[in-house]
Amino acid sequence: MRQNIVAGNWKMNNTLEEGVTLAKEVNEILKANKPNCKVVLGTPFIHLSEAVKAVDCDVIGIAAQNCADKVSGAYTGETSAAMVKSTGAQYVILGHSERRAYYGETNAILKEKTDLALANDLTPIFCIGEVLEEREADKHFDVVKTQIEEALFHLSPEAFGKVVLAYEPVWAIGTGKTASPEQAQEIHAFIRQTLADKYGAEVADNTSILYGGSCKPSNAKELFANPDVDGGLIGGASLKAEDFHGIIAAF
Ligand code: PGA
Repeated sequence: MRQNIVAGNWKMNNTLEEGVTLAKEVNEILKANKPNCKVVLGTPFIHLSEAVKAVDCDVIGIAAQNCADKVSGAYTGETSAAMVKSTGAQYVILGHSERRAYYGETNAILKEKTDLALANDLTPIFCIGEVLEEREADKHFDVVKTQIEEALFHLSPEAFGKVVLAYEPVWAIGTGKTASPEQAQEIHAFIRQTLADKYGAEVADNTSILYGGSCKPSNAKELFANPDVDGGLIGGASLKAEDFHGIIAAF
């Protein structure tokens, strides 16, 4: 079901102790200020089980930032979807542009990861988005469409219904340059239409599509006010409980 969601992506920040402190801070703030949206914290793997214990799981979901494209076995350094699930986490961020750019994650690999996440009853927060040159060449619609088609369109309508999408223009991530509300709405509407063409209007209407890229308390409200923007995936501003809450409070 379509839901408004504000999800933090801590990336490779915070020691275990710092992460647990941050999760507890967010939890305390939300205890006092009931959020009008689902809140998710995307932590490094090592924080997952402690973060699950630190928060009220009815209010705050916990996400991994990745999972392996293999079930189990001799893959040194990898963490499987089943392992993520066993921590009590409910979500997994997949296909973040940093994973695509620095760790060679292709749409084909992400297809495998998505299948394993769903098989383990994790909700994928699946990231798509174009780089600056693609936007400038007016290719952003084609880029996101191909990312969705190649990694997700093998799913049944029922399985697709469990996926959350996050549109994150790479030129806006960590740059302080946000997509304008008009740019966000335009491409979110295009993404929803792409889903409607494949799965029908009901599945498209029920899909949460988050915006990510330099989202902060000062711009969250105007971004989230768009009819096709169902919340945000937040990097830098999720590392301070007050800032993160400032974004949650936009709903
Ligand atoms: P940012 O990162 O909010 O720091 O731009 C967003 C993301 O990478 O998910």
